[in-house]
Amino acid sequence: MKIAISGKGGVGKTTIMALLANQFKKEGKEVLIIDADPSPHMAQTIGIKAIDKIKPIAEMTQLLVERSGKVEGSPFYQINPKVDDLLQKFMIEQDGIRLMVLGAIQTAEGGCACPENTVLKRMLTKLLLSPTQVVLLDMEAGVEHLGRGTIAGVDHLLIVVIPSKSSVRTALKIKKLAADSGIPKISFVGNLVQDEDDEDFLEKALGEAPVSLFPDSSVIRKAERNGQPLTRMTEQVTEAPEKLVKFLQSAD
Ligand SMILES: Nc1ncnc2c1ncn2[C@@H]1O[C@H](COP(=O)(O)OP(=O)(O)OP(=O)(O)O)[C@@H](O)[C@H]1O
Ligand SMILES: [Mg+2]
Repeated sequence: MKIAISGKGGVGKTTIMALLANQFKKEGKEVLIIDADPSPHMAQTIGIKAIDKIKPIAEMTQLLVERSGKVEGSPFYQINPKVDDLLQKFMIEQDGIRLMVLGAIQTAEGGCACPENTVLKRMLTKLLLSPTQVVLLDMEAGVEHLGRGTIAGVDHLLIVVIPSKSSVRTALKIKKLAADSGIPKISFVGNLVQDEDDEDFLEKALGEAPVSLFPDSSVIRKAERNGQPLTRMTEQVTEAPEKLVKFLQSAD
């Protein structure tokens, strides 16, 4: 299963993805997280200390250029890089969860032909997973990345939305763009939901109820402040990750 997460800035995408990774791991899945945010934040969230040891794919330009068959003097890359072995080289593991960091994606005028983008696209479309493997893709906020078509290979897009008008507006825009780019399944996930009023607001404004609701949690807030990895928390913060995993599996 390949799952991507999107939503307005700061709504909790990375937090929810880390909690989701933890839940999948608990249920015996092999989890690979790909942090495709140009300002990657997942490593800290899952407690990887040796952040400087992570080789972002974007830094391996030479290798990628060779793989993607860049023609000298041409701004275009042939979309045929072989990437299977890259997966191993660029992965770092912590508490049974593997992480890859894409690095900065440059948006050139008229679209992005940068090799790391090509590699990510290829990885998501060609990577064959066994039923026990899950790939989780954390992305930058907003809608720009959808225009690059990078997430075309994902099975399910989760759009995180908090009970605010601006967050809903972005979520609806993302849903439309994602549907236009052919992503088979798209679902809303509520975050920072405090009460029934928040739930009602989200359901009305989105036109459908989010498939899972994450509460506004002081445990999550404190964990972030104290640098405590969300993937190592013993105390169960919420049943939302469990519910979300069940939903994702039933929709698969
Ligand atoms: N359910 C929650 N309860 C309490 N705090 C939360 C919750 N979800 C997220 N937060 C806090 O909100 C902040 C933003 O969360 P996070 O970094 O996950 O958002 P994001 O959408 O990934 O942001 P960005 O757009 O910058 O990537 C963090 O400090 C996080 O700890
Ligand atoms: Mg984030």
